[in-house]
Amino acid sequence: MKYLNDTTPAAELPSTSSQQGTSSLRAGSDFRSEQRRLLASFSCDSDLLKFNQLKFRKKRIRFSRSHIHEWGLFAMEPIAADEMVIEYVGQIIRQVVADMREQRYEEQGIGSSYLFRVDQETIIDATKWGNLSRFINHSCSPNCYAKIISVESQKKIVIYSRQPISINEEVTYDYKFPIEETKIPCLCGAESCRGSLN
Ligand SMILES: C[S@@+](CC[C@H](N)C(=O)[O-])C[C@H]1O[C@@H](n2cnc3c(N)ncnc32)[C@H](O)[C@@H]1O
Ligand SMILES: [Zn+2]
Repeated sequence: MKYLNDTTPAAELPSTSSQQGTSSLRAGSDFRSEQRRLLASFSCDSDLLKFNQLKFRKKRIRFSRSHIHEWGLFAMEPIAADEMVIEYVGQIIRQVVADMREQRYEEQGIGSSYLFRVDQETIIDATKWGNLSRFINHSCSPNCYAKIISVESQKKIVIYSRQPISINEEVTYDYKFPIEETKIPCLCGAESCRGSLN
């Protein structure tokens, strides 16, 4: 099953050692827990803030023919690193429905995959209903990455820039398809291209 994936590693925070069993170390451990809680809340707040900004100040982007694959998404304004570029929008469906749809799409000859896994049970399907994010192609050396964030306890997939993006540059991220026997050749053209999407 080839679903687009997030899998951005969770922020690496200082770990509280399980070997710290004595009460004299409790204060240090409590301090680190508090630090961790604060760091987590800062990161959520900044995601929420950026997400609200994204709603009101959308990035100027367009879809157009791509050298990678059919249609792609392109920046119409410079985008700084670590910016929210666009939300991956589509129909939120469960795994069983995604499995049925995947088979149906294959039968209908829809070769491109617009199914993006949010978690074990939830998939976002942008095949027939979505926004411009559905045109983002894969690159083995991408300028963006996908991240799942929670906004008011609803999970959202957001595409972030990982480096500055110039006007007219194609926006890409790494699909992180699971490895399969039947390979989908990758046409990203990057020097570090892995040769296949999966
Ligand atoms: C979400 S769509 C991307 C938009 C697509 N180019 C279009 O015109 O609709 C994902 C599909 O695009 C194709 N694709 C994206 N990146 C590719 C790449 N680097 N090499 C080959 N095919 C790619 C694959 O068929 C993939 O399943
Ligand atoms: Zn590649």
